[in-house]
Amino acid sequence: MHTPPITLALLASLTVLMAGCGRSSTTESSAPPDSVQRNVEQAITSLNEMRESLAATIDTPAVDKGTFERVCKPVGIRAQQMAIANGWTVQQLAKKYRNPSHELDPEARRLYDEFASSPERTDRWIRTVQNGREGWRYARRITVRSSCLSCHGPKEQRPTFVQKGYPKDRAYGFETGDLRGIYSVFVPDSSPDTSTAHVF
Ligand code: HEC
Repeated sequence: MHTPPITLALLASLTVLMAGCGRSSTTESSAPPDSVQRNVEQAITSLNEMRESLAATIDTPAVDKGTFERVCKPVGIRAQQMAIANGWTVQQLAKKYRNPSHELDPEARRLYDEFASSPERTDRWIRTVQNGREGWRYARRITVRSSCLSCHGPKEQRPTFVQKGYPKDRAYGFETGDLRGIYSVFVPDSSPDTSTAHVF
């Protein structure tokens, strides 16, 4: 069939346009200024170490509300303190979430899927826009340890305070080594000088 030249020209320019979109896509792999990268990565490493060391102190048969308050609550509080002190947005997001406010946004879902399909990938920086502000978004894998299983393992074995307090809980049935979710940090370009991060 004869294709009019105008159609071909249109197709060619469309292809160029689409390639351009691809280049400016928010999933582009890149890295922020050194100081931002160092501060965010250190802050998230220490947040993750805090959770893992708290979870490691758990005595499995006696997991009650008090125990939880020594594990996940301080992690969430510290994440918010970091966010306020540095002008960042700090989140813990999961596909199988316990707290519905930790549901993945569409961009985080793409990042999560990358971690799910690439077991060797531990973290990732992308350029993006949040609430009209341009900046850098950091995502880091959260891995399930055996110490997490008392609360994120078999459904029936979850502590009573979890079963009662989180009726829409999806964050169970994990095994050691599974991808539990991601830490996400957004650093707007307009954020204060980050040459020294405020971790607390
Ligand atoms: C004592 C029980 C307990 C243990 C142990 C525990 N968690 Fe949690 N976890 C919870 C509860 C309860 C929440 C919901 C907190 C909230 O309401 O914000 C939660 C939330 C989370 C979240 C936020 C996303 C979501 O699902 O809401 C992540 C990520 C997470 N836990 C990972 C871990 C990891 C990794 C470990 C082991 C290193 C672990 N947890 C150990 C009880 C626990």
